[in-house]
Amino acid sequence: MVEMRLQAGRVRGLDRGSTLAIAVSKGRILSEFRTLLDRMEIKCAEDPETSRSLVIPLKDRGLRLVIVRAADVPTYVEYGAADLGVAGKDVLLEYRGEGFYEPLDLDIARCKLVVAGKAEPLPRAGRLRVATKYVQTTRRHFAQKGDQVEVIHLYGSMELAPLVGLADCIVDLMDTGNTLKANGLVVLETIAEISARLIINKAAMKMKNTAVKALIAELAKALDQTATDRNLAL
Ligand code: ATP
Ligand code: PRP
Repeated sequence: MVEMRLQAGRVRGLDRGSTLAIAVSKGRILSEFRTLLDRMEIKCAEDPETSRSLVIPLKDRGLRLVIVRAADVPTYVEYGAADLGVAGKDVLLEYRGEGFYEPLDLDIARCKLVVAGKAEPLPRAGRLRVATKYVQTTRRHFAQKGDQVEVIHLYGSMELAPLVGLADCIVDLMDTGNTLKANGLVVLETIAEISARLIINKAAMKMKNTAVKALIAELAKALDQTATDRNLAL
């Protein structure tokens, strides 16, 4: 049984033995992370994409996936409710927590965080209105450039905002560029290259060091193999 305790504002699962919980979101991150797990010959005990269960044991490895929303991964890891997590750099830039390490770029879910808008000059007068779900990252980006902007917080369909006059431009993710193109928008500026990262709770790194280090080494090896295969295919 998992005994829960509140400790200095942190919720920690205590009775977890040496098994490791990995927080991951369904969709593109989980499907690409499973390709890495496949390389490591780690199989899920049930299919996480079809199962309604939010805790998915991995066969024979003392590991389990905990299924959470993409933006919640750092919270689960920082608070120790998961030992490790797989989170997009976009999410980590926005979260800016200090309760975890970020030892590995998993080179999955690659895309860019961009400023995009209509293919016409941005208005010069007044404060620029920028729609995004990345409020903190957007504020930091424009502040660094010395630009005063009004950030409008949206939860999705950012590309609509400039079309209906809600904002002058957006800050959002771009991969193929198809979504921007379909909505008549162009990239104005790239803020960051994005990929999913492995993050590790600081306490788990100390208390479960052997298991955590072994998993990092295995993941690093699988990443090397993937890179080698990719180079051979070129
Ligand atoms: P939720 O489904 O909980 O609202 P979400 O829409 O951010 O969250 P996903 O679309 O699965 O969830 O995105 C998860 C992560 O995948 C993002 O944080 C980002 O790092 C990466 N990502 C998002 N969109 C793309 C894309 N078009 N191409 C590649 N990677 C992407
Ligand atoms: C993401 C992002 C863009 C789109 C970009 O949305 O918010 O809308 O991908 O990808 P593209 O450049 O390949 O077109 P996603 O598909 O994840 O939808 P969601 O944010 O509504 O979940």
